[in-house]
Amino acid sequence: MCGIIGYIGPKNIVPLLIDGLKKLEYRGYDSAGIAVVDSGKLYLQRVKGKINELESTLEGETVSGQYGLGHTRWATHGRPSEENAHPHRDCTGSIVVVHNGIIENYLTLKKMLREEGHEFVSETDTEVIAHLIEKYFEDKLEVAVQKALKELEGDFAISAISTKDKEKIVAAKSGPPAVVGIGEGEYLISSDINPLLSHTQDVVFLEDGEMAIIRKDGVEFRDFDGKPLDKPAERLAWNPLMIEKRGYKHFMLKEIFEQPQVLRDTFEGRISLDSGTVNLGEIEISPTNLREISRVVIIACGTSYHAALMGRYLIETLARVSVDVEYASEYRYRDFILDQNSLVVVVSQSGETADTLAALRAVKKGNPLTLAICNVINSSIARESLGVLSTHAGPEIGVAATKTFSAQMAALALLAIHLAQIKKTIDSQESLALIQDLQRIPHKIEMILNEADIVEKLAWDFVPFSHFLYLGRWINFPIALEGALKLKEISYMHAEGYAGGEMKHGPIALIDEKMPTMAIVPKDRVYDKMLSNISEIKARVGHILAVAFQEDEDIRDRVDDVIPIPSTNQLFTPFLTTVPLQLFAYYIAAIRGADVDQPRNLAKSVTVE
Ligand code: G6P
Repeated sequence: MCGIIGYIGPKNIVPLLIDGLKKLEYRGYDSAGIAVVDSGKLYLQRVKGKINELESTLEGETVSGQYGLGHTRWATHGRPSEENAHPHRDCTGSIVVVHNGIIENYLTLKKMLREEGHEFVSETDTEVIAHLIEKYFEDKLEVAVQKALKELEGDFAISAISTKDKEKIVAAKSGPPAVVGIGEGEYLISSDINPLLSHTQDVVFLEDGEMAIIRKDGVEFRDFDGKPLDKPAERLAWNPLMIEKRGYKHFMLKEIFEQPQVLRDTFEGRISLDSGTVNLGEIEISPTNLREISRVVIIACGTSYHAALMGRYLIETLARVSVDVEYASEYRYRDFILDQNSLVVVVSQSGETADTLAALRAVKKGNPLTLAICNVINSSIARESLGVLSTHAGPEIGVAATKTFSAQMAALALLAIHLAQIKKTIDSQESLALIQDLQRIPHKIEMILNEADIVEKLAWDFVPFSHFLYLGRWINFPIALEGALKLKEISYMHAEGYAGGEMKHGPIALIDEKMPTMAIVPKDRVYDKMLSNISEIKARVGHILAVAFQEDEDIRDRVDDVIPIPSTNQLFTPFLTTVPLQLFAYYIAAIRGADVDQPRNLAKSVTVE
């Protein structure tokens, strides 16, 4: 969703802000803009559309400057247009604001400010912030911002500058993320760490209710009441190379190919072949507490929800604990029942998804154990959960999640084995065998990736289709959902994921020669059942592609095309079946010329409800 970048320091500011905006592009946006103060004069440029259009409008300009803000907007209030793009200004044109989030009481504030004589030029909720700051401005921007904040309801991360109180950026957070970058003689503010990495790895994450007053010679932190805060910088483990394409055509393809390493990194230090155990001491939930758990509830959205569904099968099978998996956007409004023996696992790549965060906050009222599975350290969800199990996937830039999905499944597999060891539902030999199987997964993914051209060739045949059915059963049912979601997200093809056994209850009516099926058929406990489902489709002249074990010769006579994968423990087949489906969606979208890394209307991190 919206992205904010701000800079104060000696570097050439316009290209720096543009570069920062490009690194925020992946969050999803429909318009963009920058505002720079150069020798006391404000320069502002905004466009509807992409950053390169903004860049074109800036060509030939000789603006430099000492401080400024940039913004990518994902429209919520008011259509995408130049007038609605950020930065927004007050009536005098001297106060400039960028905002991520939603001001829920903006209509009331707008009415009040209009009655007081303020003139509005956009349809956005953000503009009220600029006028409120104007209303309270005397001589210090931070004081006016602080007063304005008191009037705002909703979720927001804002940054403001002014030509009247020079060389200062004031940022505030109450909801969406904001992180301050501390460089040498330069400072930045951003919605996430990616734009900061090429300048500094020393950062301070703002918490809700905190402000940063950023000057060229230092940063001061305060709460919304003006009380000074001591917030030391921390050093990031991510580096700038991690957010480069490194020769791949798209970030998504690069991230698909990174999966073997991501799994190795996620297992590293957590599994021991010597002792045959999983060690998750880091999660700070004691074995005694975990032993008492009688129920697990996993809450997530989007792709993370599909990883959670897969995790359910693992935890139930291995640790013999009942697991519910819930959409965060629904659960937060339920009259849910949780007790002290419930473990709530919150799965979120970004750790900032508004619904997931709200669901976490709601469940915490009942005081269950909470564990976050997150990819972004220090994200809100990671900070607000009792324990954290990090997925070591590195930054994911492609909007469609791939490597973080595999990393989430890996983290859930570790959790399942860990719980099973603690609850003694598996013995040491079983535990060792599982760990050995898990450890072989990265190499098996490499084998699939080495034959990516098989999937690419097949993709060409299916580019003309408009609909697709994905079928899986048992632990591969979530993978059918995820495979269909990937295709929808990036190729805009209609795709539905179904549990094979549900075919007869509706979807089979759709089957004809125009509706191909991707069937996930590893040799597992439901293999024969899937074969029956496949026969039912074949009887209705549906074209079938199957993801199946390499050595499975029988399947070749039953389907039209096969994407082979190495065999593995049936509990871990999702790690392997996922990869061809990601590649298939990728190649179809790439052949169709779609914007693979930034699909229309989608945002990487959905920080508004
Ligand atoms: C957005 C992204 C998805 C992601 C979902 C949940 O919709 O486009 O790729 O799965 O949010 O995000 P989270 O960061 O909570 O995993």
